[in-house]
Amino acid sequence: MTEESNSVVSRRSLLQAGAGLLLATALPPFPARAASPDGYRIVAAPARARLVGPDRPETDVWTYNGTVPGSLVRLRQGKPARLLVENHLAQETTVHWHGIRLPNAMDGVPGLTQPPIRPGESFVYEFTPPDAGTFWYHPHANSLEQLGRGLAGTMIVEEREPAAVDRDLPWLLSDWRLTGEGGIASRFGNRMEAAMSGRVGNTVTLNGRASEAEVVRAGERVRLRLLNASLARIMALRFEGHRPVVVAVDGQPCDAHVPEGGRILLGPAMRVDVMLDMQGEPGRRYDVIDDFYDGLSYRLTQLVYDNRPPIRGHALDAPLGLPRNPLPEPDLASVERHTLTLQGGMMSGMMTGGGGIQGGGMMRGMMDMGGGGMMGMGHGAVWSINGQSMTGDGHAGMEPALVFERGRSVVLELRNETAWWHPMHIHGHSLRVLSRNGKPVPHRQWQDTVLMAPKDVVEVAFVADNPGEWMLHCHVMDHQMTGMMTVLRVA
Ligand code: C2O
Ligand code: CU
Repeated sequence: MTEESNSVVSRRSLLQAGAGLLLATALPPFPARAASPDGYRIVAAPARARLVGPDRPETDVWTYNGTVPGSLVRLRQGKPARLLVENHLAQETTVHWHGIRLPNAMDGVPGLTQPPIRPGESFVYEFTPPDAGTFWYHPHANSLEQLGRGLAGTMIVEEREPAAVDRDLPWLLSDWRLTGEGGIASRFGNRMEAAMSGRVGNTVTLNGRASEAEVVRAGERVRLRLLNASLARIMALRFEGHRPVVVAVDGQPCDAHVPEGGRILLGPAMRVDVMLDMQGEPGRRYDVIDDFYDGLSYRLTQLVYDNRPPIRGHALDAPLGLPRNPLPEPDLASVERHTLTLQGGMMSGMMTGGGGIQGGGMMRGMMDMGGGGMMGMGHGAVWSINGQSMTGDGHAGMEPALVFERGRSVVLELRNETAWWHPMHIHGHSLRVLSRNGKPVPHRQWQDTVLMAPKDVVEVAFVADNPGEWMLHCHVMDHQMTGMMTVLRVA
């Protein structure tokens, strides 16, 4: 699986220095900046993209506005937004504005919050984002294939007062499974894979292209908005020679801190904003490494310092932290508590403590379909939450697993009883992460996607203040499609 990937990644040509700073690759058939005074127009349509380099074939992809990633959408905190989505694909789609606390009808879950957008049709999404930060958008219909073919874009909600940085750079990271001919491997929904790590690919792109170099200038402070838009690949980024400071997770500002071991863990769908002071030497190169999977680390890109002298003598003298968003604080004295237990998938035999995948164990694995995991597992289900498996993308008539009275403070205990990692995502709310395996989680972190290691027990809290039916699911797309999904109702 990932072995071939590394050879692809390391065989990249060296011709792209600097090009990675551009957002778009192919020439878009629609205006690259899809904004107009009355909002954004976002067209989902097939296109071609040069993902791997000029000496490799183009790839047929599905895009928002002709590029991968799709148009960068910039909204303003507290300002109404209007996004017209046109479907030029040959199949139904919807758009989910991941992480935004918005009205239920704008959440983009087909069957649950809106009818799917049929080919040739359009849908207008309107909402006012309450929180500033780094968010993203992607389909919520045939999600495994639509996201896997490239439908994803960054959505930035700007703070009222811009942060003091020299540059603000979104890095949308995607993982692709490419064939030798440069096409996207078509077999989506492999059941064996779905019962394990999900569809991990063989080529990682940064803003739509395999990156050899990201050009920086000595002395500058960059706000890097890291976003893992992969179907299944988990990332752990290290910036050689640098000291990234985490200032927000999943769009929500936290206490500024240096990540444990200098490694930034990014499960699928997660975002981490870091402040990076470019304290390296002019003319030098520094590796950015992803070493999540044991023995399969690779170089994501390099920070390449141009030869200009530093723009300032030492790091910018401005606070690193970001202003907090107006999230309702759960009242821990009066919470109601619930447990959500994740089960299913292959049994252990492949995982190591450090999160590695080791070969050879695949055939020794057994399906954990007995015991508590069996009930409610319908056709194609491999995973379950509290013994129930909702498969696919969401459809009408799903019974909510939990119903909350509006305004209640809730603590959810998420128990991962599987042998696999799961980035668990909630719609319409953000979760205060209280503890992991009994230990308090520092830095006052809020997340909409909580990455759970095998056997992890995580406690999260939130105020169920947003009425409607909200999905809670694993963001490893094959896991979601095969049952690791449920619905919560706020009434
Ligand atoms: Cu980004 Cu329901 O997902
Ligand atoms: Cu999962």
